[in-house]
Amino acid sequence: MLDISKEPMNLTQMDVQSLWHPMVQHKQYERTPPKRIDKAQGCYVTDEESKEYLDGVSGLWCVNIGYGRKELASVAHEQLVELSYFPLVMSHSPAIKLAAKLLELLKFEGKVHFSNSGSEANEVAFKIARQYYSQISKNGSWRYKIISRYRAYHGNTMGALSATAQAERRARYEPLVPGFFQVHPPYCYRCPFGKTYGSCNIECASSVESTIVHEGAETIAAIIVEPVISGGGVIVPPDEYLPMLRDICDRYGILLIFDEVVSGFGRLGKMFGHEHWNVKPDIITLAKGITSGYLPLSATITQQHIFEAFLDETDSTSHFRHINTYGGNPASTALSLKNIEILETEQLSERATKIGAYLRTKLSNLLDHPYVGDIRGKGLLLGIELVADKQTKEPLAATKVSAIVSRCLELGLIIGRNGATIPGFSNVLILAPPLILTKTDADLIVAILKEALKSQV
Ligand SMILES: Cc1ncc(COP(=O)(O)O)c(C=O)c1O
Repeated sequence: MLDISKEPMNLTQMDVQSLWHPMVQHKQYERTPPKRIDKAQGCYVTDEESKEYLDGVSGLWCVNIGYGRKELASVAHEQLVELSYFPLVMSHSPAIKLAAKLLELLKFEGKVHFSNSGSEANEVAFKIARQYYSQISKNGSWRYKIISRYRAYHGNTMGALSATAQAERRARYEPLVPGFFQVHPPYCYRCPFGKTYGSCNIECASSVESTIVHEGAETIAAIIVEPVISGGGVIVPPDEYLPMLRDICDRYGILLIFDEVVSGFGRLGKMFGHEHWNVKPDIITLAKGITSGYLPLSATITQQHIFEAFLDETDSTSHFRHINTYGGNPASTALSLKNIEILETEQLSERATKIGAYLRTKLSNLLDHPYVGDIRGKGLLLGIELVADKQTKEPLAATKVSAIVSRCLELGLIIGRNGATIPGFSNVLILAPPLILTKTDADLIVAILKEALKSQV
């Protein structure tokens, strides 16, 4: 039994004895205990041995404005002193101001519902979509099915996991929520339809229509998509894709949900990812960059016409009967406003475009490497797909990809990968550094990656 009252405390030992870490096979900690990060500033984090790493994934793709911003800590401190907590069954000014700011940024006439995580925000979106259709139903049957895309990640709670179409994330938790099904993603490097962009008919979009018809359009409530699939391997759609999807949704009366948990708040080089394609969603979900990870917060934002279906006072179940204790917490919402102010004043979306283009150009030199099959992305979300054979595109073995990630860590770079997604396809390295990245930082990323790739040939 560990006695935590004894000094000096052995944090590493306490960690292994007490903490259940996410996404890790804990048996490995018997050989190598988890690395502990003690502090962070800008794009860099420092571990317990004072070793510094460039954080190439912004924590979990969320620290958009970088670490250690004292202004955010001050705003949260002041808010906690003024009003530490109150639920949004009544109201408070930080939540009101943030809701108004988000609608202004989105150019939406609509309503904002706050939660605490991306998964929850998506759960809320699904519940709103189902209830909306039940409320506008004239004949007692309503649309309830939700479409997502293979490889997509939309969270870990049971509804969100049902939309997450990654076999390795779902295994052993099934059966999941009924009514969710998938279509193929717009994945040009491995086109599911065997086509080549330029000579195709954007089958990735047109096939959605065919699936809708086969499923019965009158049963389908919504389709949820990230503008760019992030955790599933940085899959950027062809430019025609999202406008086509919008058109299909309009023709069949299906709600289009954009999950912008990753792509919101500058990550793709615009405040919101969908602005690249000039396509409006009916519902949008936001998290991560909404506070740059400093405090938990997420939002589900609907267009006004959807909200208006919840206003029948004669029906005791027509309002949205969903509540969570912490959603819209005063400190989180006040901090989020400051975070957005920084994103705007420092023009970090524009910076993501510029520095993302610089990083991508430098990374393109790695295409000479025998394992580098494809480099893709938008803004500061970049993916490097590793293959064992460039002709056949056979994915590089997961052990080799892991070795490259580990070598990067040894050399001082934290880099992500699409782990535990599709069996045999955990082969995409992912970069999503803070948007304040400098050219010097970008050069360091490329130099370390080059070295790490060399070590595995
Ligand atoms: C696109 C997307 N949606 C939803 C989520 C779930 O967010 P959270 O981990 O805050 O529940 C994630 C998390 O990585 C995500 O990448």
